[in-house]
Amino acid sequence: MLSTPFSCYNNFMKILNLADIHYDLNNTHLHYPASHEMVTKLFSWLNEHAKEYDLITISGDITVKGTTTKDELSYVKDRFDQLDTPYIIIPGNHDLCPLKKMEERYPGLEEYEYTSLENTNFYKVFGEDGVRYSKVINNIHFIGFAIRNDDPDKILDWLQQELLSPYEKIVFCHFPIIPTRELGFCSTWDYFRIENSINPLNDLIFNKDYKVKAYFCGHQHINSIIKVNNTYHIETASSVLGSCSYRVIDILEKNITISTHFFNGPNNWVGDLLLIDRSVDTTHGNPYEYQRGNQQDLYMQIERESP
Ligand SMILES: [Fe+2]
Ligand SMILES: [Fe+2]
Repeated sequence: MLSTPFSCYNNFMKILNLADIHYDLNNTHLHYPASHEMVTKLFSWLNEHAKEYDLITISGDITVKGTTTKDELSYVKDRFDQLDTPYIIIPGNHDLCPLKKMEERYPGLEEYEYTSLENTNFYKVFGEDGVRYSKVINNIHFIGFAIRNDDPDKILDWLQQELLSPYEKIVFCHFPIIPTRELGFCSTWDYFRIENSINPLNDLIFNKDYKVKAYFCGHQHINSIIKVNNTYHIETASSVLGSCSYRVIDILEKNITISTHFFNGPNNWVGDLLLIDRSVDTTHGNPYEYQRGNQQDLYMQIERESP
């Protein structure tokens, strides 16, 4: 959602892209113990650096227990409201559970809310812009959305309408919609949460007519960039777990550059990597490279179309 008006009126924008910041209120036990210190450091870092950006975007999983603990969502919103930089925050599965019966697997942690989108914790805290964000800035159409597996909220219809606009687009969601590695855990892991929506999302996002320059997501806590048709599918790793990194999106007149930066800290991609024994493929020779990303996962220049 957008907290303050945009202040840039030229053809240049600098955007900070984060994912999976996983704030945990810690009222029972920490789900990601290694991230706890990094979350605090991240908010301090944002206090100092947010003003260097025209926009901050977070590709979901801003909390650990947001589906049952509204205070986690409110805390994160308060912290971003204080920054004085506009932001787009859309939900991940820890903030708005997309799949029924997940509460049987992760009680208290990731519970499906059997109610309308408007009655969910996430909507109550972040409102309409948190689930259906749409704004054209400097001739680029920014779209962010929440999605639940069976699409009870008719987000796909809404998205299709938005994609009909004539502008180049940058889209934000939480979930990867293609395999992000050719082998290893990310080739198969955790696409099931939105399995009924993945194919229609592929048809929309990668349709050349819709001019989606980049689709940003999170979820698997790795850095990955893969081109499909004319669209770059860009997964951003967690800012507080594993690689502890963030992306910077520079929008220039002729191109868009994506660069990746690593926080220095005690948990800086040492330990706490997911599924280490399944983190190798032919282009990522060890678990650190698999999750941190190789050169092609870390920097990309995307040509813009002439108006
Ligand atoms: Fe996550
Ligand atoms: Fe996730």
